[in-house]
Amino acid sequence: MQINSKDISYPDNLEINENLEEFVLQQQIYRAAIKEIKTKLEILDEEFQVKYDHNPIHHMEYRLKAPKSIAEKMKKKGLELNADSIRKNLTDIAGVRVICNYLDDINRITNLLLRQDDISLVRKRDYISNPKENGYRSLHLIVLVPVFLAEKTESVPVEIQIRTIAMDFWASLEHQLKYKSHSEISEALRERLKSCAESITHLDMEMQTIYKEIKSEICLFE
Ligand code: GTP
Ligand code: MG
Repeated sequence: MQINSKDISYPDNLEINENLEEFVLQQQIYRAAIKEIKTKLEILDEEFQVKYDHNPIHHMEYRLKAPKSIAEKMKKKGLELNADSIRKNLTDIAGVRVICNYLDDINRITNLLLRQDDISLVRKRDYISNPKENGYRSLHLIVLVPVFLAEKTESVPVEIQIRTIAMDFWASLEHQLKYKSHSEISEALRERLKSCAESITHLDMEMQTIYKEIKSEICLFE
């Protein structure tokens, strides 16, 4: 196997406490875990399309936490930088974002995924029922998924963020704005951003209602 050490750069003040090979192999396992989750969700989405003529998932995004971010997070937590410690302490190395069409699709997808025998739930944070102070809404899950390797089976954590297109629109722009502003965003602007999040909540609910009403009209005429 070719190991490309050029891909792995650490901040200068951080030492890698073990060989690079183990770390790169670990990255491969997390990539495999993303593929497992992606396939499971695609299968559910396709089943819905066939059975109900509806796709709950608009699209998905995937990311593997960059080695530099892993190192920085470990340092922030005051933890040793080795493959074992990373595996035990970081649950967001593999990340999948599921962007749903309608509000109801979020619970639908979550329940169907968590019902699967080989998936176990580690943590659920419902920022939809309980939005964050700044207005952020999304459902966050950390699940363990088995990855079958040549000599062993690894149970790998994956962070899944599930949200509607509207929630994703807000979160993407808010993230960009936070990143772009060099100083702390003023209270007035934070309030305006929060108010945008509230408008988006109303839009999501209204779109859901319109969808249901159109569906029931179609049923009446069929
Ligand atoms: P981290 O240490 O950042 O991973 O936080 P955590 O373990 O407490 O997890 P949490 O579930 O609160 O959030 C993790 C991820 O959700 C972040 O890395 C972002 O992708 C997303 N997120 C959380 N809060 C916000 C927010 O206020 N705005 C945006 N745009 N994204 C957020
Ligand atoms: Mg994170």
